[in-house]
Amino acid sequence: MSMGHWANMRSMQRSRDVLSHKVKKGTLPRILEFARPYRSLITIFICAVLLDAAISSVSPLLLRGILDHGIDNNNRGLIIFLAVMTGLLAIFEAIVSLAERRISAWLGEGLIYDLRLRVYRHIQSMPIAFFSRTQTGALITRLNNDVIGAQQAFTELFSNAIGNVVMVMLILSAMLILSWQITIVALVLLPLFLIPARLVGRRLGGLFRRSMELNAQMNNVMTERFNVAGAMIVKLFGSPAKEVAFFEQRAAQVRDIGVEQATYSRIFFVTLSLTASLATAFAYGFGGLAVTWGTISKGTIVALTLYLTRLYGPLTQLSSLHLDFMTALVTFERLFEVLDLEPTIKEAPDAVAIPEGPVAVVFDHVDFAYPAAAEVSLASLEAVAVLDDTPRTEVLHDVSFAVPAGTVTALVGPSGAGKTTMSMLVSRLYDVDRGSVTIGKVDVRQATQVSLSDTVGVVAQDPHLFHDTLRANLLYARPEATVADMEMALRSAQIYLMVSALPLGLDTVVGERGYRLSGGEKQRVALARLLLKSPRVVVLDEATAHLDAESEAAVQRALDATMAKRTSIVIAHRLSTIRNAHQILVIDAGRIVQRGTHDELIAMGGLYNDLYQTQFAGQEGR
Ligand SMILES: Nc1ncnc2c1ncn2[C@@H]1O[C@H](COP(=O)(O)OP(=O)(O)OP(=O)(O)O)[C@@H](O)[C@H]1O
Ligand SMILES: [Mg+2]
Repeated sequence: MSMGHWANMRSMQRSRDVLSHKVKKGTLPRILEFARPYRSLITIFICAVLLDAAISSVSPLLLRGILDHGIDNNNRGLIIFLAVMTGLLAIFEAIVSLAERRISAWLGEGLIYDLRLRVYRHIQSMPIAFFSRTQTGALITRLNNDVIGAQQAFTELFSNAIGNVVMVMLILSAMLILSWQITIVALVLLPLFLIPARLVGRRLGGLFRRSMELNAQMNNVMTERFNVAGAMIVKLFGSPAKEVAFFEQRAAQVRDIGVEQATYSRIFFVTLSLTASLATAFAYGFGGLAVTWGTISKGTIVALTLYLTRLYGPLTQLSSLHLDFMTALVTFERLFEVLDLEPTIKEAPDAVAIPEGPVAVVFDHVDFAYPAAAEVSLASLEAVAVLDDTPRTEVLHDVSFAVPAGTVTALVGPSGAGKTTMSMLVSRLYDVDRGSVTIGKVDVRQATQVSLSDTVGVVAQDPHLFHDTLRANLLYARPEATVADMEMALRSAQIYLMVSALPLGLDTVVGERGYRLSGGEKQRVALARLLLKSPRVVVLDEATAHLDAESEAAVQRALDATMAKRTSIVIAHRLSTIRNAHQILVIDAGRIVQRGTHDELIAMGGLYNDLYQTQFAGQEGR
């Protein structure tokens, strides 16, 4: 099957939904902007396409010359000359088409590279709110499939539109000059092909999309079940027979649609070649009669039939040109949609560095609500039809407190009170709605991003380690750290003995999401990473899970090392941490309801005392 036939089928499979899509104004100029760096390459490409079209419309004329002037006049010299010329032309055409493919690959891959880099860089600059809403899978699809789709549509459009228009014009004029009567009769046959091909193509398009969906569903089942966490749930709750049946059903759907697709695509190809054969038979029959009447020569019929077979491909492709064009617009638009999403948290143009030395953290009348979906994300990236439009509800109300330089402030309160939310405002993962958060008298919104991330270190409740070696994970915090630095940090985090006992030591790969470490070990590695970075402000979301007596002392020493001489905000679940804090803030429903030291608060009674009685008193004496 020729390349042309495949291209025909691809065009037919394009979704016709795009035709009803309204493309935003300005999309086309933006696409052209992307093509600008490739101007000279595109020019060469167009020349190659034109040359290719010209060459392939000349060879039938040479063959006609052999038949009419060579064979009929017994001119052997002419026969040999024209045959050699036809051969040479074929070789030249092969070279040109190779060059054409090479250039279009350069163009296409270059475009993919540019688009991918642009989108990746942009996504990196998005605030955490964006990532907490979007589906990772949808984002990756944008970077993979959409980028490739945009490129394909773009380069195909170029060769399809320009190459085929020229080809059809050249061939049609040659045919009309040779015999306008046969040309017109042969063209009448064209709709006979185009109409069934359209119908089959439409059906194929539907099948194609459906099979993509079914494949994605089947893959989802696998990725969900085969990662450690999913496999664990299956082992604990699932029944193997039910799991297999679930997968079987999806796999069977994929099988059935595969059979359908194969059948319909063969129907498509058969229609195409059948029409070409019928047209050839017709041209030979009608033309043969014309030869007997003496109206045209034998060579003309051969040339005409050759032209006919070369005409159908380009004509069908041109018939879907509009569809190709719209598809290109829509895929680009999907990418532009991501690029147009403004990062809500950006460095201020007049940003300043946070001053050196010990710094205090001050919350001044802070109100905060999580951003609404429409502010930070796109429906298509959340895999929902419309963005959730629940109004923003305020999570923090009028929160004011100061953490003096070098002291520890503990946040305690019931679940959902807003403790984690408060901790996220310090490192500017979100921006406050009213009031301000300052570090060393600099509003975090006015601080440079580099100085902010140098100053504030965070250890989350369930810290993440990249799937890489321990060394790489530690160096992520400070690339220039030496092995001695790393050992020191590991010692302070009370994890050195465990790491040095590993056969590969620092070169041990911590599994997907750091799975081969226990929860407590992972937390301590995260503490070591933070110590290596040695930030002046520390934000800790203490893990609730790892409170067993054995590691309690180790964890406590690690925490003490981390917080020593640093300005610390710790969401505390450990009585020992709370007792050592210089100040305790009791948070309830987004407000600070009590503040003081442990003894003061116990004496005061109220929420803290209740929490102490229910949660912490049991830890007494551990
Ligand atoms: N990304 C988010 N978008 C919208 N609302 C959120 C988001 N994260 C948290 N919330 C809401 O904000 C409120 C405070 O949540 P937060 O995580 O700060 O509680 P917490 O005090 O840390 O609780 P816990 O002790 O259980 O960790 C909750 O009502 C929660 O539903
Ligand atoms: Mg929390």
